[in-house]
Amino acid sequence: MKDAAQFRWASKYPELGTGPISVEPCVSPAYFESEREKVFKRTWLKVGRVEEIPNAGDYKVKRIAVAGTSVIMIRTKEGAVRAFHNVCSHRGNTVVTETGEETFGSSRAAVLTCRFHGWVYDAQGALISVPEEERFYSCFVKADNGLTPIHVDVWEGFIFINLAPRPEQNLKDYLGGYGDHFAGFPYGALDYCFTYYTYLDCNWKIAHDAFAEAYHVPTIHAGSFPNAFTTGLQNVELYGPHRTTAICLTLGAAATPVATLANKRARGSLVAKAGSNMLPPTINPDRREDFAFELSVTFPNFLLHVAEGIWFTHQFWPISHNKTLWEGKYYLAAPKTYSERWALEHAQVLQRNAWLEDTATMEATQSAMESGTKHYIHLQDEEILIRHGYHILDRYMAAE
Ligand code: FES
Ligand SMILES: [Fe+2]
Repeated sequence: MKDAAQFRWASKYPELGTGPISVEPCVSPAYFESEREKVFKRTWLKVGRVEEIPNAGDYKVKRIAVAGTSVIMIRTKEGAVRAFHNVCSHRGNTVVTETGEETFGSSRAAVLTCRFHGWVYDAQGALISVPEEERFYSCFVKADNGLTPIHVDVWEGFIFINLAPRPEQNLKDYLGGYGDHFAGFPYGALDYCFTYYTYLDCNWKIAHDAFAEAYHVPTIHAGSFPNAFTTGLQNVELYGPHRTTAICLTLGAAATPVATLANKRARGSLVAKAGSNMLPPTINPDRREDFAFELSVTFPNFLLHVAEGIWFTHQFWPISHNKTLWEGKYYLAAPKTYSERWALEHAQVLQRNAWLEDTATMEATQSAMESGTKHYIHLQDEEILIRHGYHILDRYMAAE
């Protein structure tokens, strides 16, 4: 056995240690209750994209189960994005009825109307109309009964909220060097999106960790990505609570004839070499020819991946200590011809298969952990992003 100093990442980040990791954060209901307060109600959470609400009056509603609330994001007439708790000041109905994991709508007048008794709020959250207002007593002050605001900010088109009454940092400071690293990529221009989601009977970190290393690729992805990616990471960088790395290709791997044709028609698949022309200089700084994609984690629950012509995200929304909503979204340039459309459909199916492979282990891992047989998990040097995740989580959980 070599000692830590002889490993690339353990020697670069000795503060993370090399020991085994307790399973408690993944199996303990009490730990989960603390995570709600100390992590999810304190940190900036990505909840949308500006392209989802492009015009004044467009809104999106997202349930944040871990914080026990539902959030409305709305575009104001001035073009800003505001966020509010989706709770009516009258008798507490949800102002916008949720119709799924994400609910979209539009109001030409840029107002939100509660369907129970018709109270109307403008996009700044002010209560502007109360039917039969004269029947309320004098202690009811309309101006004090707007929607309850939530701190919201936008970075590179990503909408983030912070549920703390007074966030400890603004979004720019929270993202820090991570924000600089990922700035300047054309996220908004690559807006042809496909998305998959499912509820998984596992802790959010078990789902998260399964996407934060490449060690599993030769085994789990032997079907969809045979011999495609190398298991070693490149350019690992830690930015405060966030982390990023490059995943590289095995250049000798031959794609199937169908994949080769699809890759010729349109850039849709991560496994084809595509250069680094649209990447900012911070990503693949050496312009390695084997660069496949940048894999990163925005603490706590948002994974952002960037490649030439492709970006994709994973998000893990805790429901309970052993239930998680996973959402995968994959973005490309919109196809202009039918053959490009076909090529992107091929990429989508390939990616769907890979994500099915990824999600296939998670529930079994949870139940095995809950058996109490093992008290620790072990991480090798190339699982450094996972180790950093538990290290950061420890810090948040130790805070008063
Ligand atoms: S609960 Fe919303 S108007 Fe009555
Ligand atoms: Fe995977």
